[in-house]
Amino acid sequence: MCGIIGINSSKPVSATIINSLKKLEYRGYDSAGIATLSSGLINEVKSEGRVDNLEKNSSVLNMEGTIGIGHVRWATHGLPNSINAHPHSSQNVSVVHNGIIENSTLLKKFLVGRGHKFKSQTDTEVIVHLITENLKTENIVNSIKKTLKALHGSFALGIIFKDEPDLIVGARRGSPLAVGYGPNENYLGSDSYALKSMTNKITYLNDGEFCVIKKDHIEFFNEDGTKINKKVLELSSEEEKYDKGDYKHFMAKEIEEQPVTLKNGIKEYIDNANNDINIYNIPWEKNEISSITLIGCGTAYHSCLMAKYWFEELTSLDVNVDIASEFRYRKNRFKKDSLYIFVSQSGETADTYAALDLCNKNGMKTCAVVNVIESSIARDSEFVLPIHCGTEIGVASTKAFLGQILILYILALKLGQLRGDLEKKVLSEKIKSLKELPKLVEKTLSIDSKIQNVSTTFNEAKGSMFLGRGFSYPIALEGALKLKELSYVHAEGYPAGEMKHGPLALIEEGMPVVVLAPRDNYYKKTISNMQEVIARGAKVLLITNKSSDEIVSENIWQTIEVESTNQDLLPFLLTIPLQKLAYYSALKKGFDIDKPRNLAKSVTVE
Ligand code: F6R
Repeated sequence: MCGIIGINSSKPVSATIINSLKKLEYRGYDSAGIATLSSGLINEVKSEGRVDNLEKNSSVLNMEGTIGIGHVRWATHGLPNSINAHPHSSQNVSVVHNGIIENSTLLKKFLVGRGHKFKSQTDTEVIVHLITENLKTENIVNSIKKTLKALHGSFALGIIFKDEPDLIVGARRGSPLAVGYGPNENYLGSDSYALKSMTNKITYLNDGEFCVIKKDHIEFFNEDGTKINKKVLELSSEEEKYDKGDYKHFMAKEIEEQPVTLKNGIKEYIDNANNDINIYNIPWEKNEISSITLIGCGTAYHSCLMAKYWFEELTSLDVNVDIASEFRYRKNRFKKDSLYIFVSQSGETADTYAALDLCNKNGMKTCAVVNVIESSIARDSEFVLPIHCGTEIGVASTKAFLGQILILYILALKLGQLRGDLEKKVLSEKIKSLKELPKLVEKTLSIDSKIQNVSTTFNEAKGSMFLGRGFSYPIALEGALKLKELSYVHAEGYPAGEMKHGPLALIEEGMPVVVLAPRDNYYKKTISNMQEVIARGAKVLLITNKSSDEIVSENIWQTIEVESTNQDLLPFLLTIPLQKLAYYSALKKGFDIDKPRNLAKSVTVE
């Protein structure tokens, strides 16, 4: 996942590269580095840990050079230390890389045989030596072409050369890469966001393309080295402000922003005056679609699973859900009347993108539910439904999850309406309830003190379980994922009805178990499953919605009640206490909430 940046300018570049790297830190934060060219030499400075560490390194302050590349790393090959940090350089060439070179072992063997000396444990270093080797006999463009041809796997690359004071090469296969145009300077970056403070004029490289960036112009080539022309896009020049305000962490702020996320989504997709849905431009006729496959990773996969319950409830469509990393390698039966929906906050997740690419190559109908509208997944999907939740900084997804499930719910209503599966009156009632949702989420957000109290039990336990049935099952999975990624304790989400088929053996005296049992069609069944874990010694935190009906159960350890609404919308409210549980558990442990260990916000390697 790693972030890369390159600047070719007539002014010194190191400070600007550092600033851009800070913006790219969401892609990886275990080490960072920079290389510039000055007085005919490549200078490199690298540090373990965050960009802040790199910035504090006195050598960076004194770094000269008007051309340079920088990198933030999420380790794939080799420990996250300063030796393995990028850039990697030979005497002649310096490279930053995002991706994985799958044939690096073979290439390394070949290069060692040709006398090349390796310093790091990374796969990237083979690229440096391969270019260096090819430069012995080829010019720059041909050496790049030859090198890229020899690489298996995925890459976005930024490359500078000792003997080329006005040239950065960028290349892309699999991992995203953008170039930017400035006044007598040009740029390379993993995304437009990293370039935004410098320019809003952007071109995205497609798979297989490479480019040569000079100060005053940029040339593009396809895989076989033929020159190509590419469009320059003008993005909005407004820079979003990112600050935590009065919050300790972005995650806390993003949790509290969720009523606004919902309001924005409803404003965009609901026609208030007519109680109707504002999705008019679907590019397919209703009889062209008889099934839907929803695809995502992690939290986005949970959104897909949530949507399955809604699509099945509200439409007569067949609905499948898939994890992108599984889908992309399975033998899929592509059917002409299937719609494939890709769900992703970043729009850059490598597995989700590969699944989309596969569907596109097979001529399938594709739709993206994304937050970043300039992303690869948005650009390459036939139809895009943005979630409009603003930038999400916390690595653990919160407001993007609620944004995704909101859009998917509205899409289910729309398809139900178009296909005649939903009566007008029913649709109108559902839209009415939906409009009330932001207020209910806002009220539910005030449950802090109770959650703070129970969070200690969860972060001190060996492990915990999150149980739910029906609409609550995907939310149980999401709650467990949030707790494990932030608190580093084992947590498992499970369908409550499945416990007796194995996992019940895990329950022992005092084990904390979250049971999601809102008063929906599954309520009684879930309460029975709850009794079964209580009988075996579990400490149950029951999360339900407010009701005048008493809960008929004994020995519940703690109960949290969220607001009440119709059964479709209860998952939105149940999510809130689970996000807060994960947040407070990690807070009490003193962990880095916005940047949990081993993770990154944008997962651009498979
Ligand atoms: C967990 C989380 C991840 C992402 C996953 C997909 O809190 O954020 O599981 O949901 O990496 O990312 P996107 O949505 O960017 O495709």
